[in-house]
Amino acid sequence: MSAKLAVALRPMLPSDGPELAAIFRAAIADTACEDYSPAQCDAWLSAADDEAAFSKKLQEQLTLLATVNRQTVGFASLRDNAHLDMLYVQPKVGRRGIATALVDALEILAASRGTALITTDASDTARDFFARRGYVAMRRNTLEMAGEWLGNTSMEKTLSVPQRGALQ
Ligand SMILES: CC(C)(COP(=O)(O)OP(=O)(O)OC[C@H]1O[C@@H](n2cnc3c(N)ncnc32)[C@H](O)[C@@H]1OP(=O)(O)O)[C@@H](O)C(=O)NCCC(=O)NCCS
Repeated sequence: MSAKLAVALRPMLPSDGPELAAIFRAAIADTACEDYSPAQCDAWLSAADDEAAFSKKLQEQLTLLATVNRQTVGFASLRDNAHLDMLYVQPKVGRRGIATALVDALEILAASRGTALITTDASDTARDFFARRGYVAMRRNTLEMAGEWLGNTSMEKTLSVPQRGALQ
């Protein structure tokens, strides 16, 4: 097992779009493709063909970037304060704690905004990651993307919402 990395986090800026699209592509092509067929991966990859739309979607959500030595190495997004939507890590730094840092932060932000139940639709690649964090599998889904059917699993986790005035 490789040592965990010192990760810094920051919110996404509009100019980050192309770099996040590149991480999205690398994470699918090098990591997720071990769990999905080449045709399914091509369909999944097509979600970033329109980089402007891809970037706009991320900007409409709460999107955090992870950096190591000022290099962007991953990102995660939270929709409606309650649904973890995107989570992608540069394959060359996989299993080094990048996704953990991102999801730790988004869970804290969601809880601080009053969200008691956080959900995600986990890819087959990410399912063990979420299970280890206490997410419970609720439902198996198949969704159509660019003419291919891809499986994922709806999972959820109860968060501890901070009590108002707890510091008083
Ligand atoms: C899933 C993903 C985001 C995980 O990112 P990561 O930075 O490698 O994850 P972490 O290093 O924080 O992993 C923390 C723990 O989760 C578990 N875990 C993570 N990836 C795993 C995998 N592929 N298989 C089994 N367990 C895994 C491990 O217990 C790991 O701890 P360990 O490395 O000490 O054993 C990354 O593999 C990825 O980008 N996958 C492709 C895109 C994708 O499927 N995204 C999810 C869309 S819902």
